Amino acid sequence: MHKRVAVIGTGPSGITALKNLLDQGIEAVAFDRNAEVGGNWIYSEKESHSSVFETTHIISSKTLSQYEDFTFDDFDPEAADYPSHDELRRYFQAYAGHFGLYEHIRFETMVIHCRWLNQDSWEITTEKAGILQTETFTDLVVCNGHHWNPRWPKYPGEFTGEYLHSHSFKKAAPFQDKKVLVIGGGNSACDVAVETSRVSEMTAISWRRGYRIIPKFFFGKPSDKIGETSSWIPLKVRSFFFDILLNIMVGKNELYGLRKVEAKFGEIHPTINDELLYKIRHGKVKPRLDIQRFDGKKVVFENGLEEEYDAIIACTGYYLSHPFFDKDFLDYSSGPVPLYLKMFHPEYRNLYFVGMFQPLGCIWPGAELQAKIMARELAGKWKRPDNIKALCEKEVTHPHYKQINTPRHTITVDFHVFKKQLLKYLPNDFVSKDRIVREVVEK
Ligand SMILES: Cc1cc2nc3c(=O)[nH]c(=O)nc-3n(C[C@H](O)[C@H](O)[C@H](O)COP(=O)(O)OP(=O)(O)OC[C@H]3O[C@@H](n4cnc5c(N)ncnc54)[C@H](O)[C@@H]3O)c2cc1C
Ligand SMILES: NC(=O)c1ccc[n+]([C@@H]2O[C@H](COP(=O)([O-])OP(=O)(O)OC[C@H]3O[C@@H](n4cnc5c(N)ncnc54)[C@H](OP(=O)(O)O)[C@@H]3O)[C@@H](O)[C@H]2O)c1
Repeated sequence: MHKRVAVIGTGPSGITALKNLLDQGIEAVAFDRNAEVGGNWIYSEKESHSSVFETTHIISSKTLSQYEDFTFDDFDPEAADYPSHDELRRYFQAYAGHFGLYEHIRFETMVIHCRWLNQDSWEITTEKAGILQTETFTDLVVCNGHHWNPRWPKYPGEFTGEYLHSHSFKKAAPFQDKKVLVIGGGNSACDVAVETSRVSEMTAISWRRGYRIIPKFFFGKPSDKIGETSSWIPLKVRSFFFDILLNIMVGKNELYGLRKVEAKFGEIHPTINDELLYKIRHGKVKPRLDIQRFDGKKVVFENGLEEEYDAIIACTGYYLSHPFFDKDFLDYSSGPVPLYLKMFHPEYRNLYFVGMFQPLGCIWPGAELQAKIMARELAGKWKRPDNIKALCEKEVTHPHYKQINTPRHTITVDFHVFKKQLLKYLPNDFVSKDRIVREVVEK
């Protein structure tokens, strides 16, 4: 049967999905609401799909944050250990250029509805410049990202100052000389608190539990490279030693006035930040407990402390969101997410997700391997296991890490374990840089 595949999104996941479909000779069309490739990594001061801000750099280092088909050495050997959002945008666009993806992408085209017809067809409705179009595809690959639809916290009372979500935080300058409260202990919260503290009159950070802050470097090397050396050790043992190492290198949170870490390494998504603890010790960021209620510009914390703020930035994460599906067809916004290898649906064989997982590490190397398996299946070179339903359920009941039960912890994987699971289904010669060579020769 002739395959015609639709891909939603041309961020880091969508471009590798498209590239690998084309590599297998499969007809594919990718749709993106943006005007360029890069997804989350297209920084814009205006409200957009992207949630990065002026100074964002990644938290996984470059050799663990690259496609095997197109490494940072293929792009720019001088790229930083932890590239900025702009370096990354250029890297993704270079990938799309090298592999000749552009002619297969329809930009400024929003996918507004996807209707599953049967195991061989989808009806996809898109909108471009106000014009609706409905087309039929055999298969659908969803790569719409999972860090764009803000999850807001709820508190009694009303805050009358400026109240925004980290999705809308673009730069620190507007917070000059203001009293700022940042909510959350994830990577957004700690990055945002550090940034506003450079210009604000006062920045505080409110945590509802203790978070382990992991530095970006150990022994002069990126910390994930140090972690990689122990990736052959079983997870539980690895986690135990990471906790010891962090206690020695960083010290306990209580020394910084922060909440105690109660969870073991991996039970909470890691926060990687080199500056937060420094800013706290320099009096630039004040640690605060959970919020009890708002009262005008006043915030009352759980220990009874009351303080006035000009602005609150809720860095409280994002919903898994697929607005183009009817809610009764599929809704993962509050978990669980029963997908085998975070990509195969138990019922709908012609629906794939690529990049919809939260690794302790980088997303796109795993997305690339998922894309290769997906494309090989569609090309008839690989067959999924027969017991897919049981495997989907097992994935929910046996996660890599037993994490605390909060909304952000529904799709976590261990970077190295996940890669091993995916590699099991790929041939040894899965790397394919061919299009680069061909295009360079043509030039
Ligand atoms: C501040 C910040 C820093 C981060 N840092 C890291 C990091 O260091 N390492 C890491 O691995 N991850 C990081 N992430 C996570 C981030 O989600 C991934 O890096 C990466 O962008 C995921 O790629 P993606 O292609 O799956 O999604 P996205 O990059 O979000 O791309 C999705 C694409 O789909 C398009 N799209 C969505 N819906 C539609 C629709 N209905 N119709 C048409 N097009 C649509 C969007 O326009 C977008 O281009 C970070 C996230 C944030 C917010
Ligand atoms: N520099 C970078 O590369 C960078 C920067 C920012 C983000 N990111 C990535 O982007 C993704 C999203 O990160 P994120 O930090 O925006 O979101 P996140 O990882 O979901 O973290 C949200 C934080 O807010 C807390 N929270 C949620 N609801 C709350 C509530 N009602 N009250 C109080 N606290 C609440 C969470 O607490 P619990 O712990 O209780 O869940 C958690 O500490 C992650 O993959 C992250 O690694 C990377």
